Amino acid sequence: MGSTDVESPTGESVTQADAKTPEGNGPPSPPWLEDLPPRQIVMELDRYIIGQEAAKRAIAIAVRNRWRRARAPEEIRDEILPYNIIMIGPTGVGKTEIARRLARLAGSPFIKVEASKFTEVGYVGRDAESMVRDLVDMAINMVRTEREDEVYDLAAERADERLLDILLPAVPPPVTPPKAEVEEGEQPQSVFVVGPTGAVRQSDSAPPPPDEDRRTRSREKLRTLLEQGRLDDREVEIEVAAQGPLMFELFQPPQGMEGQEMNLSEMLQDMLPKRTKRRQVKVPEARRVLIDEELKKLVDMDDVVNESLDRVENHGIIFVDEIDKIAGERSQLGPDVSREGVQQDLLPIVEGSTVQTRYGYVRTDHILFVAAGAFHASKPSDLIPELQGRFPIRVELNPLTEADFVRIMTEPENALTKQYQALVGAEEAALDFTADGIAEIARVAFRANDAMENIGARRLQTVMATLMDDVLFELPERSDKKIVFDAAAVRERLAKVVEDDDLRRYIL
Ligand SMILES: Nc1ncnc2c1ncn2[C@@H]1O[C@H](COP(=O)(O)OP(=O)(O)OP(=O)(O)O)[C@@H](O)[C@H]1O
Ligand SMILES: [Mg+2]
Repeated sequence: MGSTDVESPTGESVTQADAKTPEGNGPPSPPWLEDLPPRQIVMELDRYIIGQEAAKRAIAIAVRNRWRRARAPEEIRDEILPYNIIMIGPTGVGKTEIARRLARLAGSPFIKVEASKFTEVGYVGRDAESMVRDLVDMAINMVRTEREDEVYDLAAERADERLLDILLPAVPPPVTPPKAEVEEGEQPQSVFVVGPTGAVRQSDSAPPPPDEDRRTRSREKLRTLLEQGRLDDREVEIEVAAQGPLMFELFQPPQGMEGQEMNLSEMLQDMLPKRTKRRQVKVPEARRVLIDEELKKLVDMDDVVNESLDRVENHGIIFVDEIDKIAGERSQLGPDVSREGVQQDLLPIVEGSTVQTRYGYVRTDHILFVAAGAFHASKPSDLIPELQGRFPIRVELNPLTEADFVRIMTEPENALTKQYQALVGAEEAALDFTADGIAEIARVAFRANDAMENIGARRLQTVMATLMDDVLFELPERSDKKIVFDAAAVRERLAKVVEDDDLRRYIL
């Protein structure tokens, strides 16, 4: 699905190979979002989203309610209705942004889907259940990455040992020929010597000290060189599994048909003999390949699957965007078959049902659903009644004011001015906005929204892009590396566009 927004809270894998993690350290359980009190969830959201207090509150309560429900007495637990939310508001006021930030807050599996992308079962396109399968895939990736991070150091250690084995071939079993039989020119004993560049050569320097000792020392020498990266240009031959994914892709069932068939393709892959091939690669690549192999051995996939399914069922969040697009006005001509059909298909998932995924069955009862839509042409009451009932919480997001624009441009951690400052900073230049400069940008954006279509805070992006255009183009040659935008400078830059109606329409 093109519109699946997958957010993984874990960044790249750890790279420091020196820190050693003792094996068997229990996995640190991630701080669940629902462990935070609502007030704190709102505070976290405040770091990125200006205003929209009602929506933030509702989200925070919904998340916490799931935690509360999990702790409620069993008799009542299943009776407590999920606290699913519909966010209603004009375009560009932060609906998607709230959901996106929510997902990044904690290790909850999260996906964003667009309701308008689904089609009724039986039609070409994605069926509604695929959102649950996507969520599971997302969780699997997330948990696998976490688990791999935990054992990364160990995997790296093992990979290094294997690399050393390759770099310093094993001695043949000690067949010490009787002295008398040693002929002229024959090497009495194979001893490996590591030169300063890590070159291993066989030396016949006699008398050999206890072999083991020597080998150990050579190995340690090599290890140091390896750690210092001084063997990076060396080529080694390694055996790599002929990459499976290609084969795997071949068996991928068409979209929307995953399920039972999936298991078949996995079975097929297991049945095929594991193909391997030998490849000559540089040490760093060999190390990557070996680490990867070791990670696969160290991470127990059954455990990953179990944990993932558990997370999806108890912590998963599905953000259904553009739900208004499937809320067709029910015309006299009869229901809009396809839209209502999609709603009908959504219903059991939101209500709680069991969905088959390639990793096993998933119950959707406790997944939190957050829907959003502008509801320009339709109203939440145009949704089929059953679905309305499954989204009991409605929150409206407010249109943004000019004052909001000022804050949005400066306060969030990813504020536009900060983004541009970082871009300009990369060229060793400095970018500054004065308060009246910011106010002027906000004013231009607000008026553009008024005069044309109101696209909310997105307008700031087009205004800023127009404003920054020259600077970004000329920056490398610019002699003056300090750029300041005050009101006058902003006005001057934007005047051409603001005053020309046609230009404005196309650019801003
Ligand atoms: N309240 C806000 N605080 C901070 N930034 C905001 C706010 N509202 C919007 N933005 C900015 O505008 C962009 C667009 O907002 P967002 O994607 O949330 O719109 P939306 O409400 O989902 O609109 P649509 O209905 O068109 O999907 C965001 O990426 C964000 O940078
Ligand atoms: Mg949106």
